[in-house]
Amino acid sequence: MGQVKLIVSNWKMNLDSKQATRLITNLKKLKKIHPNFKNIICPQFMLIPLVSRLINQNQIILGSQDCHYINEGAYTGDTSIKLLKENNCKYVIIGHSERRHNHKETDSIVRKKVEHVLLNKLKPIVCVGESLKQRKSNKYKYILKKQLNNCIPTNQNHIVIAYEPIWSIGSGLVPTLNEINEIYSLTKLFLRNNKKIKDFYFLYGGSVNSENFKKILDNTDVDGALIGGASLNFKEIKKILTKS
Ligand code: PGA
Repeated sequence: MGQVKLIVSNWKMNLDSKQATRLITNLKKLKKIHPNFKNIICPQFMLIPLVSRLINQNQIILGSQDCHYINEGAYTGDTSIKLLKENNCKYVIIGHSERRHNHKETDSIVRKKVEHVLLNKLKPIVCVGESLKQRKSNKYKYILKKQLNNCIPTNQNHIVIAYEPIWSIGSGLVPTLNEINEIYSLTKLFLRNNKKIKDFYFLYGGSVNSENFKKILDNTDVDGALIGGASLNFKEIKKILTKS
C-alpha cells in the first residue's frame, strides 16, 4: 500500500504479566526502530490493560487477538470492543486460523466481526490462508478468493489482510517469494474487482523470523508481517523492528 509497514506481534496465549512487562520495557528502550515501521502488539485479553499502561502510544500500538461482534450481552467468555477501545486498542486480529479451527469461527462470523470493528473505527487485521491439502490439490486460489469474498465488506479502504497459510504457522515452512507475491496479486485484483477496494495493507504471516523477514520485505509486495513465535523473543523482534 505504501511506505508504512505494519509489524504485528501476535503473542497468542503466551507470556505472564512479568514476562510481558519485561518485553515491553525492552521494546521501549529500542532506539533504532525503522522509521517506516509501525510496531503493533496484540497480547491476550488479560494482558491488555497492563500493556496499555506500560506503552508509550507514539512508539507501540496496541491490538487484540479477537473481539465479539455484539456490543454487550449474554456472551459468556467473550470480550466486547468497548473494553478494547477503553484500553486503547487500535487494531483487532480477526479470523486467525487458530480461532477458525479451535472455536469453529466461520467466514460469516468473521465477516460480522470485521464489520463491527470497522463500525467502531478500529482496524481489522483479517486473516486468510489455505491448508496444506488445499495448497497441494491446487485449490488454494479458489479457497482464498472465497475467504476474501465472504469476509471482506465492499468499499472499505485501508483494511489489513494477513495472508497466513495454515501449513506455515509455527512449522518453520515459508512459501517462496513468488508464492507470496502470487497471493498478493490475487488479493489486489480480487479486492479491486469485487469489493471496490484499491488501498489495503497486505501482511504475510507464518514462521516469520528475523532472517526470512528481510528477504520477504525486500523482495515482495507485502506491507509488513504478522509474527507469532518470533515476536516473543526480544532479540528476534528487535532485529525485525530495526531491520538489522
Ligand atoms: P508463527 O505464527 O509466526 O509462530 O508461525 C504466526 C501467526 O499465527 O500469526
